[in-house]
Amino acid sequence: MFKQSALKLATIATVVGGALSYSSLVSAATEIKAAFNQSDKHPQYLALKDFGDKLAQETDGRYKLTIYPNELLGDQRAALELVQNGAIQMAVVANPLVENYDKTFRVIGMPYVYTGSEHQEKVFTSGALDELFNSTKKYGFEVLTAYTAGARSMYTKGGAVTSVADMKGKKIRVMQSDTMIKMLSCMGGTGVPMSQGEVYTAVQQGVLDGAENNEITYSDLKQYEVAPYFSATRHLMVPDLVVISSYFLNSMSADDQATIKRLAKESTPEEFKLWNAQIEQAKKVAQDKGATFTEVDIKPFQEACHGLQEALVETPAQKALFEKITALQ
Ligand code: GCU
Repeated sequence: MFKQSALKLATIATVVGGALSYSSLVSAATEIKAAFNQSDKHPQYLALKDFGDKLAQETDGRYKLTIYPNELLGDQRAALELVQNGAIQMAVVANPLVENYDKTFRVIGMPYVYTGSEHQEKVFTSGALDELFNSTKKYGFEVLTAYTAGARSMYTKGGAVTSVADMKGKKIRVMQSDTMIKMLSCMGGTGVPMSQGEVYTAVQQGVLDGAENNEITYSDLKQYEVAPYFSATRHLMVPDLVVISSYFLNSMSADDQATIKRLAKESTPEEFKLWNAQIEQAKKVAQDKGATFTEVDIKPFQEACHGLQEALVETPAQKALFEKITALQ
C-alpha cells in the first residue's frame, strides 16, 4: 500500500514537474498527459490510444498523447484538479466527479435514465450534450466527449442481492457524489463514497459489504475475489467523461482545437464497440475464478428509485436535458 502510494506520488511529481518544461522543447511534439484510473487493457484506454494516434497523424506529429493508467496520477478527483489547474492536460473521470461542480450533470448519470446501450450511444453522439459539455469552461476544463462504462450492478460478499429488502443494512461503496449516496439509499442500502482504488481492501477488511460497478471493472480489478456475488441490478449507466484543461486547449490553434474536439467525439462510437466486445470475456474471467452472476428482476428497484429520479430533475436546465434524453429513446 505504502509502496503504491509512494510510486504514485513520485509519478505525479515527475509528470507535473515535466509539464513545466515541455513548452521549452520547441522542436519536440507537445505532450498531452492523460490520467486514467484503470488498466491498459480497458476499452477506454484502447479508444483513447487510438484517438491519440489519429491526433498525432492529423496534426503532423505536433501532439503526442501519453496515457497514465492505473491511477498513477492519482484518483479521479485528484486527476480532475490537475487538469483544472493545467498541471496535466486530460483525464477520464466518471460523471459524478464533474457533477460536484455543476448539478446539471447529474441528469446524465441518474438511475435508470437510459433504456440501454443503444439509447446511451445515441445520447452521447447526437450532439444533445454539446451545450452541457461546453459549459464547464468556467471551471477550467471542458468535456470533449463521453464514453460508456456499461451498466452498473451490485456485487457483495455473503450472497446475491435480488430485492430491495436484501439491500437492508448493506454498506456499499459508491462514487463520490450526493446523487450516488441517494441512489444507494433508494435501492435499500447505505452508500459509502470512496475512490475506486480503495474498494478492494475496504471490502476485504469488512468496512464494506460490497460495491457496485460494471462487469469489466469488476473483473479487471479482481473485485470478485472479495465480493463474489454479482447481481445484475443494472441500476446505473454512468458516463465517463473525457476532460481537457481549458488552459491547454486555449494554447492550441483554432484548427488544432477543432481537430482534437472532432477526433474525441469520433472515438465514442469506437469505445462503445470495444466496450460491448469485452463484457462477456470479463464475466468469464470472473466466473472462472468463482464469481456467481445472478439475473435480477429490476422492476422493484426501478420503482424504488422513481421518486429519486423526479427529485433530481429540478432546475429548468435539468428538465430540458432530461427531455432531450428521453426524446432519443
Ligand atoms: C467505472 C468507471 C470509472 C469509475 C469507476 C468507479 O469503472 O468507468 O470511471 O472510476 O467505475 O466506480 O469509480
